[in-house]
Amino acid sequence: MRYRGSDFYDRDENFARYMERRQSEENANDTLEKPVFEELLGSVAGLRILDAGCGDAGYGRELLELGCTAYLGLEGSGNMVMAAQKSLEGVNGNVVRAWMEEWEYPHEAFDRVISRLAIHYVEDLDRLLHDFYQSLKPGGKLVFSVEHPVITSTLQPSGQRTSWVVDNYFTEGYREQQWMGGTVYKYHRSIETYFLALQKAGFVVEHVRESKPVRSNFRQEETYQRRLRIPLFLFFSARKRKDED
Ligand SMILES: C[S@@+](CC[C@H](N)C(=O)[O-])C[C@H]1O[C@@H](n2cnc3c(N)ncnc32)[C@H](O)[C@@H]1O
Repeated sequence: MRYRGSDFYDRDENFARYMERRQSEENANDTLEKPVFEELLGSVAGLRILDAGCGDAGYGRELLELGCTAYLGLEGSGNMVMAAQKSLEGVNGNVVRAWMEEWEYPHEAFDRVISRLAIHYVEDLDRLLHDFYQSLKPGGKLVFSVEHPVITSTLQPSGQRTSWVVDNYFTEGYREQQWMGGTVYKYHRSIETYFLALQKAGFVVEHVRESKPVRSNFRQEETYQRRLRIPLFLFFSARKRKDED
């Protein structure tokens, strides 16, 4: 059977460890990924948002509290879908259990398509970006983060990380990682590949960002210094053209 990124999260022990790590103090998602993501996303008031690989949709709840009109999460893992349903109780948000590379995307339905740390699980980037493009209204935006290619390129076939050396950078494909006690496969591709795929899908790329640490987001100097060493996340924001563009 074909590998899906969500498989990892459907093993109960992986799911439990991931959720624990996600909520730990000074976790990389909150100190490095979220601040840049929020900057790129900007105001969400009055917007309809699709979130691909939404996880527990805790962020969806926040977006609704910030005034987004409608939130729909796509999520492949049953464990995550259950957590997302809980997060979205009593608010105008929904979650659908689907693989983002197979979902039937409605046309011109969303003002924003977002995805946080999920696209590096997907093999066919061109098709996914084509679907995202179709589902955005003209002028709508795609904002996403992925694990930085400098990180995914350090994962070597054995899956056992022995160093942080970038290697086989231009050889793209799934790489195995022993992560939080389980085995996960992340799709390594270069920065250039992400950029060119966005342009090929028709997007105007507006921003490319990396997770440069900001001191005020850290309580401990030691964690801040450690995060200055290696970029963990890569971000893009891109706009769908309007007729008059
Ligand atoms: C690292 S978690 C991030 C979750 C959430 N976006 C966040 O930032 O908290 C990645 C999520 O993507 C989901 N995922 C991975 N591959 C997927 C796919 N092909 N279709 C839908 N969801 C997928 C996983 O199940 C997991 O919940």
